[in-house]
Amino acid sequence: MRLLVTGGAGFIGSNFIRYWLKRYPNDKIINLDKLTYAGHLSSTKDFSSNKNYKFVRGDICNARVVGEVMSGVDMVVNFAAESHVDRSIVSPAVFIKTNVLGTQVLLDAALKNNVTRFHHVSTDEVFGSLSLDSNEKFSEETPYNPRSPYSASKAASDFLVRAYFITYGLPVTITNSSNNFGPFQDPEKFIPRMITNLIDDKLIPIYGDGKNVRDWVYVLDHVKAIDAVLKRGKIGETYVVGGMTEDISNLEVAEKLLRIFGKTRKFIKFVKDRSGHDRKYSLDWRKIRKDLGWKPEHEFDVWLKKTVEWYKDNEWWWRPLKRRAEKLYDKTGQK
Ligand code: NAD
Ligand code: TYD
Repeated sequence: MRLLVTGGAGFIGSNFIRYWLKRYPNDKIINLDKLTYAGHLSSTKDFSSNKNYKFVRGDICNARVVGEVMSGVDMVVNFAAESHVDRSIVSPAVFIKTNVLGTQVLLDAALKNNVTRFHHVSTDEVFGSLSLDSNEKFSEETPYNPRSPYSASKAASDFLVRAYFITYGLPVTITNSSNNFGPFQDPEKFIPRMITNLIDDKLIPIYGDGKNVRDWVYVLDHVKAIDAVLKRGKIGETYVVGGMTEDISNLEVAEKLLRIFGKTRKFIKFVKDRSGHDRKYSLDWRKIRKDLGWKPEHEFDVWLKKTVEWYKDNEWWWRPLKRRAEKLYDKTGQK
């Protein structure tokens, strides 16, 4: 089988390709990635010489390039996106361009080339925000209610994917996953920012009161969920993918990290809150468990510790990215 993976030099995409080449050694993968600030060839270094892997630098908004790489492809897995909420608040336009227009360009090319599957990787953020005292969980039935330029652009892309299924019969699937953590996540994002600051003995900035809740899923669990959907998922369906944590606040995540590093709460620094900051995400992933037999297998505490070890062991990877990552927070004032 021949797969086109977009955004495969990013966090989840590179973990997906690494997993897939090992799990299905006869498959061929083309990775189309623009290498924005978030795309790193260093994340693909260990598999870049695999004979079944090919990298093409290009933009998913460019119909010519997309048409070329789509030729002969069986399945498309679309990770390429602008993915950081804080950046979407500073510069929303590129989120609409890549996440909405780029997805449409891919969908058109997928249709022309009769692919057997177009899988779209999306987020739980399209469902909006829960209140802290609510017991509700997001599921496939939850109406969309995006509240940031990022989540609004992802919601629009999900709707386009569904529209291509209904209108043109393109064989699509969608996963809406919660917050991922693990190796090769850019130090701009919460957990790697905390870890790399603590390695450097720096304070860790917590937005607002730190009570915001996220559902955390280890990246390999997410990758395996996509595998299950590609192999056994029903065309036209959406699957919600979440982790093993019960309602854990940002402050609790920070405290766990401080314990791993043997540091005190003095390392916590409360900073200005994010504008429109979603309070809580919580997921009900019973559908993918029931229909496809997938469930998360990586326990948060254990894999958080292993993720810390990975960042300690792989400074070569994140150190060159750290200065640029912190520059974003010069702009937002969240330092
Ligand atoms: P990331 O920001 O780490 O990587 C995005 C990749 O896409 C980068 O390699 C970048 O160079 C590439 N890219 C960006 N614009 C492009 C364009 N116009 N053309 C081609 N390539 C382009 O993102 P991630 O965290 O790996 O997320 C991947 C996908 O998963 C995204 O669609 C995101 O919305 C979704 N998602 C992420 C999370 C999470 O916690 N990280 C959770 C749920 C869903
Ligand atoms: P992030 O990794 O940006 O993911 P998302 O906003 O898409 O969920 O942030 C996760 C949570 O951590 C979010 O509630 C914002 C918060 N946060 C901080 O408190 N401090 C930080 O330095 C960052 C980057 C995020």
